[in-house]
Amino acid sequence: MKAVIWTRYGPPDLLRLAEVKKPTPRDDELLIQVQAATVNRTDCASIRAKPFFMRLVTGVFKPKKQIPGTEFAGVVEAVGKEVTSLKAGDKVFGFDDKGTESQAQYMTIHEESAISMPEDLSYREAAGCFEGAHYAYNFINKVALKKGQSVLVNGATGAIGSAAVQLLNSFGIRVTAVCATESIALVKSLGAEKVIDYKKEDFTRDENKYAFVFDTVGKSSFFKCRHLLQPGGAYISSDLGYMAQNIFLPLITPLIRPLTGNKITIFPNPVNIRGSMLLVRELIEQGKFKAVIDREFPLEQIIEAYKYVEKGHKKGNVVITIGHNAPEK
Ligand SMILES: NC(=O)c1ccc[n+]([C@@H]2O[C@H](COP(=O)([O-])OP(=O)(O)OC[C@H]3O[C@@H](n4cnc5c(N)ncnc54)[C@H](OP(=O)(O)O)[C@@H]3O)[C@@H](O)[C@H]2O)c1
Repeated sequence: MKAVIWTRYGPPDLLRLAEVKKPTPRDDELLIQVQAATVNRTDCASIRAKPFFMRLVTGVFKPKKQIPGTEFAGVVEAVGKEVTSLKAGDKVFGFDDKGTESQAQYMTIHEESAISMPEDLSYREAAGCFEGAHYAYNFINKVALKKGQSVLVNGATGAIGSAAVQLLNSFGIRVTAVCATESIALVKSLGAEKVIDYKKEDFTRDENKYAFVFDTVGKSSFFKCRHLLQPGGAYISSDLGYMAQNIFLPLITPLIRPLTGNKITIFPNPVNIRGSMLLVRELIEQGKFKAVIDREFPLEQIIEAYKYVEKGHKKGNVVITIGHNAPEK
């Protein structure tokens, strides 16, 4: 089969497309013919091992997995003898931040890491549904949201931000979203009530107060956003911040509430991927969630896809389409 090969950490130019042996599923695994994958910011962090602690997951000296990729959509071709929840012919999609080796024509995965696709969803739409949404949901589920509350989302056009706006909207939360001028219509279409154009205004000077500030693109800080928060409000960022402050402040701010006006920071440690996937599928079926797709690249242009995603300007997701016309081995 054709697969992207990843043998050492570094820039996208180190990746290459090669013919490798088609994998065989273990007893509790599915063999999936991959139809679409994505290149996302988790993949970019993995291939470069940046931040360095990524190596604890991906391999200390060199990648443990031979093929990169985290999100996928495809069809089950075969199942191991212990698999009960899915069968050959099922259309499935999924995500695992530890890597699924999905940037290939075939992959194997534990049955719990894939779920069946909603009817009518295309593979290209399905592939981009989970990475951003999983992280977005792990901002949201760290706080006690109440219907009608106001939340500010910075970076509302990214994979995480575009998912956060839709998830918050589906929970009845009023969203103020921060994005660039050219993305205002997109962000409004996702459900934002108010949009701040960061090219014209500094959102940290906004005079409105919010229950929570979610900086999904990691371009601000708790100290810059503190006055945007209502008493008892929380700031969450996707980035470690200057001197990794977004790791340390969540330990300190809950202890010094009187000094911060009862405002805290929270670290969005993402857990329970399957829970996020099941929620997102339900919202897709209810017409409340749709992956935003920026552009598509064929597997053959994987290096260009990584280089594009690394620029940090994609709107939603970058999909990798995987052809199956070549004779199989
Ligand atoms: N370490 C990891 O494993 C990991 C995994 C996932 C995400 N993350 C981090 O989480 C962040 C967001 O991830 P993502 O996947 O959502 O990113 P993404 O899809 O690449 O999107 C980033 C978005 O932010 C927008 N943006 C850029 N500068 C901005 C600014 N100053 N203010 C507001 N918006 C701005 C970009 O559009 P415009 O440029 O057009 O405005 C783009 O749509 C990234 O910093 C990423 O490194 C880390």
